[in-house]
Amino acid sequence: MTRKVTKAIFPVAGLGTRFLPATKSVPKEIMTLVDRPLIQYAIDEARAAGIKEFIFVTSRGKSALEDYFDHSPVLEQELEKAGKTALLETLKTTDMDSGAIAYIRQHKALGLGHAVWCARRLIGDEPFAVILPDDVIAADKPCLQQMTEAYAETGGNMVAAMEVAPEKASSYGMLDVGEDSGTTVKVQGMVEKPSAGESPSNLAVIGRYILTPDVLNDLDSMKSGAGGEIQLTDAIASQIDKQEGVFGYRFRGQRFDCGSKSGFLQATVAFGLARDDLRDDLAAYLREIVHIDKAAQ
Ligand code: G1P
Repeated sequence: MTRKVTKAIFPVAGLGTRFLPATKSVPKEIMTLVDRPLIQYAIDEARAAGIKEFIFVTSRGKSALEDYFDHSPVLEQELEKAGKTALLETLKTTDMDSGAIAYIRQHKALGLGHAVWCARRLIGDEPFAVILPDDVIAADKPCLQQMTEAYAETGGNMVAAMEVAPEKASSYGMLDVGEDSGTTVKVQGMVEKPSAGESPSNLAVIGRYILTPDVLNDLDSMKSGAGGEIQLTDAIASQIDKQEGVFGYRFRGQRFDCGSKSGFLQATVAFGLARDDLRDDLAAYLREIVHIDKAAQ
């Protein structure tokens, strides 16, 4: 029997420089896809997977995130007075139970592995999830839920995985694939951001992980890897030869790289088209501009 995963770490300490000047005063995770901040998508996915404790690894300038998950009595009162019950319901999706959410500061930007390590005392001795909010995944069954179900069978460590074009491999943690049973693969090696032509496969790690607490022990050594950073990929790779092992999980769903402007725009369009209240207008507009574009050629 594997233990239930009830804690998730959300590394949100990054400066978000790719989105400057917006991120000068707004944390990237608060930027909105349609009308919900990026972080809300990650939280909803975690909740669907049964996560009860949410651990944010933050940095200076991220206090808007704390406010976002706090109750806002004045706003609630106003909406109640005005009889705006639908909006009140929407607001409730941001409520967190007292004690369900914790914020830890990463004082130095030493890498993703270091960010996760910062939360070690809150994790203790149980398996935990990590969600990178930049990776937004649209799926009928939320990605982390797919993974917790698969993990109940495999145990060990599990990373979300997706095939990428060979020329994109140097942007990801890449898997060396052992036994491949279709949805789940046994991992026999992992390389963070391999140089061109040196990736062991086309299977990339996407930002969802279920990890054993022993990964945190490996991070204690503070070894730096690719780009001089303390890499989560390296700490997970240290588990490959241990009893529990590492699995890659090919999730069903569409992933958007909201850490890039183009990915963020694509996600905005896709999530807009998925909304009943926006689909018709947006689709008509898209048809119109594609038509103009074609006419211009
Ligand atoms: C991080 C991880 C990488 C993973 C990627 C997924 O990289 O280090 O292994 O493939 O997220 O989005 P980053 O995008 O933060 O450079």
